[in-house]
Amino acid sequence: MPGLTLGDTIPDLEADSTHGRIKLYDYIGDSWAIIFSHPGDFTPVCTTELGKMAAYAKEFEKRGVKLVGLSCDDVQSHKEWTKDIEAYTPGCKVTYPILADSNREIIKQLNMVDPDEKDSSGNQLPSRALHIVGPDKKVKLSLLYPASTGRNMDEVVRVLESLQKAAKHKVVTPANWKPGDPVVISPSLSNEQAKEMFPQGFETADLPSKKDYLRFTKV
Ligand code: BEZ
Repeated sequence: MPGLTLGDTIPDLEADSTHGRIKLYDYIGDSWAIIFSHPGDFTPVCTTELGKMAAYAKEFEKRGVKLVGLSCDDVQSHKEWTKDIEAYTPGCKVTYPILADSNREIIKQLNMVDPDEKDSSGNQLPSRALHIVGPDKKVKLSLLYPASTGRNMDEVVRVLESLQKAAKHKVVTPANWKPGDPVVISPSLSNEQAKEMFPQGFETADLPSKKDYLRFTKV
């Protein structure tokens, strides 16, 4: 199966959505984007996920991110289902568009096909896929979850912050990093370059090898 993966440029696809006809590049503009699929409308885990995405929409907007949902149900179904999502998540409105992909073209192009899940007619269904796309329209991070497992939007915010810090500062983020924690200086920088780039200073972990590759700073 062809698969969109890290570093690939997303296609400039066009689709019907709850916000009318959308051309993806026009909609995203120069922003970051999160494109996420779900197996189907009127299903339990999906209802909780799209509600949580609505609840976190302000967090993503603050970080300059456009959200795009997607499943193979049609726009009328998405609109009807949105009433359930909003009722289940009081105080939250689904302000992001949900694309319709009845002929399964988009989920194939975006590597969002679940190999196991099928609808009652035997048609393919989307996995819980999520791509974070940079302003250059390239995939920076992908999550691929099966239908059984809902995504954690705190994790989506966390990895987005990591990506945005790495894009801005020549840093990387360690295991279990959270926003506000120290970051690690990119190993591509020498200590001399690091001193210039991080005048606030950095701490080097004292390792048995005595190699100085694990250097923490705050940005
Ligand atoms: C759900 O959203 O709960 C779901 C959707 C498709 C298959 C299984 C579960």
